[in-house]
Formats: sequence, C-alpha cells, structure tokens
Amino acid sequence: MIRLVYSSAARAGMDEAELKRILDAARTRNARRDVTGMLLYRDGVFLQLLEGKEVDVRFVFSRIAQDPRHQRVVKLLEETISQRDFASWSMGYQVVTHAQLDALAPPDPVTRKPSVNMGMLEVDPPLATKLLLSFAQPMGFASA
Ligand SMILES: Cc1cc2nc3c(=O)[nH]c(=O)nc-3n(C[C@H](O)[C@H](O)[C@H](O)COP(=O)(O)O)c2cc1C
Repeated sequence: MIRLVYSSAARAGMDEAELKRILDAARTRNARRDVTGMLLYRDGVFLQLLEGKEVDVRFVFSRIAQDPRHQRVVKLLEETISQRDFASWSMGYQVVTHAQLDALAPPDPVTRKPSVNMGMLEVDPPLATKLLLSFAQPMGFASA
C-alpha cells in the first residue's frame, strides 16, 4: 500500500455546498476502490492524504489532479505504508482551525498569530503530512 499527500488551491467561489458535493462523490468512489484518507481545507487551500493499494491511489489521484474545481495540484509525498491511518474513513474532512495550526508550531509570542499557515504547508511536505496524520483515528474508533 502507499500513502499519497498533495496540496491544491480551491477554485474561486468554492463554498460549503460545493465541498459537500465533492466529498459525497469522493466517499462513494473511494469506498469502491478501498481508498481511505483525509481532506483538509482552509484559506482556499486543500491538503489531502490518500491511502490504499498503489494502483487504486494512483488512479484516484490522476482523476483528482484533472478536476477543474481546484488548481496547482502538487504531489507532496508518496511512500509505502504497511497499515492505514484512516482505515474507517473513505474520506474524512475537516476545516483546519487556528488551534490545530498552533499545535504544529507555537504561535508568535508577540503577535499571537499562528506561525504556520496553509501556504507554508504547501511547501513543507513533512509538516503537511504531520497535520493530516494528527487527524488519524485511534484503533477501534468507529466512524460517524
Ligand atoms: C479537493 C478535491 C478532493 C477530491 N477527492 C476525491 C477523492 O478522494 N476521491 C475521488 O474519487 N474523487 C475526489 N475528488 C473528485 C475527483 O476530482 C473527480 O471529480 C472524481 O474522481 C470523478 O472523476 P472522473 O469524472 O474523471 O471520473 C476530489 C476533488 C477535489 C476538488
């Protein structure tokens, strides 16, 4: 199996309804191919982790990369894994909060602004992967 992480920029005008349509379709399609993972969104940036058999993950990613609903699709990481981190989620989804960014690196002590933003994660594969994996479910977690 492999894990693939990419980032992309949402097309202008992306809203909750459009996100929900993307997720519904993604969940159905991923379940069919036994692809699992996590999709994060904030400030117009998507970060997504896909995991499963290499052939399935590559196929799903090739379709995603051609989707006109986002641009600047950049593969950040692809590596072999022996087990899944999101086994019970055909695709989890979260809007990233300030607190979650702060947990990656302490905020600036003077301005209190988060020291990490989504733009930085697009060029920092290890940090982007760390954020995605912070949403992994503990063993035995039942998906909603
Ligand atoms: C940010 C984003 C994430 C997506 N994630 C998935 C996904 O995990 N699985 C999936 O099958 N499609 C996903 N899609 C939708 C695909 O891009 C595509 O619409 C779908 O696979 C159908 O492709 P096709 O019309 O080429 O068959 C995503 C789209 C976007 C914009």
